[in-house]
Amino acid sequence: MAFSRAEAFAPATVANLGVGFDILGLALEGMGDRAIVEFQDAPGIVITNIEGDGGQLPREPERNVASVSARALLDHIGEKRGLRIKLVKGLPLSSGLGSSAASAVAAVMALNALVGEPFKREELLPFSLEGEALVSGYHADNVAPCLLGGIVLVAGITVDAIRPLPVPENFHLALVTPDFPVPTNTARAILPSEVPLKALIHQTGKVAQLVDALHRGDLEAIGASMEGDTVVEPARACLVPLLTEVRSAAKRAGAIAVYIGGAGPTLCALCDYAPTAERVAAEMKQVYSQAEMESIASHTLVDQTGAKLLQVE
Ligand code: HSE
Repeated sequence: MAFSRAEAFAPATVANLGVGFDILGLALEGMGDRAIVEFQDAPGIVITNIEGDGGQLPREPERNVASVSARALLDHIGEKRGLRIKLVKGLPLSSGLGSSAASAVAAVMALNALVGEPFKREELLPFSLEGEALVSGYHADNVAPCLLGGIVLVAGITVDAIRPLPVPENFHLALVTPDFPVPTNTARAILPSEVPLKALIHQTGKVAQLVDALHRGDLEAIGASMEGDTVVEPARACLVPLLTEVRSAAKRAGAIAVYIGGAGPTLCALCDYAPTAERVAAEMKQVYSQAEMESIASHTLVDQTGAKLLQVE
C-alpha cells in the first residue's frame, strides 16, 4: 500500500546517567518532538514549518537534523521523490534533554512508515545518528534510547553495540531545566582531552557499578554511582547555574542522587517514589525562582516504548 503522509513522536532522553559519558542513556515519559513527513512532486527535502523553536532552528535542509536524517534514509533506499517535513518541538533546545535526537528520530520513524517500513526500529539508528552528528558528532546515547525506549548501554555507534538495561521498579526522576541554554558543542569543547589513568580507573569502576546496580534494582547504589563522575561533571559544573544549591535542595527533599542531564543544563534527580519526585522537582525549581531565574521542572518515569508512529495515511 502506498502512503503519502506519516507522523511520529520521539521522546526526550537523558544521556550519560552521571557517569557513562556517551555510553549510557535513557528515555523519558511525556515530553518529546513530533515530525510529519509527506512526499512532494518536486525533488529534494523542504522543511515546511517548525513549531515551538522560537525561530532558532535552521530551516535549510542540509543544516537541520531531521532533514539530514531523512536524507540519509532516502539515499540508502534510492528513493528519488521529494519530501516535506514539519516539526513540532516539544523539547527545549540546548537543554540536555536530547532535543536534536528527538527531531532526528521522529523524522526517520515517520519516514520509515511512509516508505512501507523497510527497517526495523533499531535499524533506524544509523540514519538518526547522521542528523545528531550534525550537532555534536557521532554519539548514540540520545538517539538509541529515543528509538528504543528504556535505559540503554551504547557500547558503540552500530546497532549491535546497543543493549537494553533493566529499568528498576520505583525508578523516578525529577528534572529541572534552567532557562540558560548550553549548546552541546560548547559543553563538549570544555571537556579535558586526556584523562589520567587514576581517573579512568575510578570512572570505569563507577560505570560498572552502575550497570550492576541496575541489574540488581539497587537504587542507592545506582545513585552513588551516578554521582561518582570525576571527569565530566567537574568540567561542566561551571555551565550549570546553581548546581550545588539545586543538588542540596533536591537531597533535602529526598532525592537519592542528582546529576547533569546530557550536556546540561537540565539537572536530573533520582528518586524512589512519585510523591518524592514531585516534591524534589518543586524544590529544585524553587532554587532558581529564588535566584530570579526561569526554569521548567517536572517529574517522570523512564519511557519504555521509544519513538511512536502516530499516523500513516
Ligand atoms: N553524551 C553527550 C554529552 C550527550 O554529554 O555531550 C549530549 O546530549
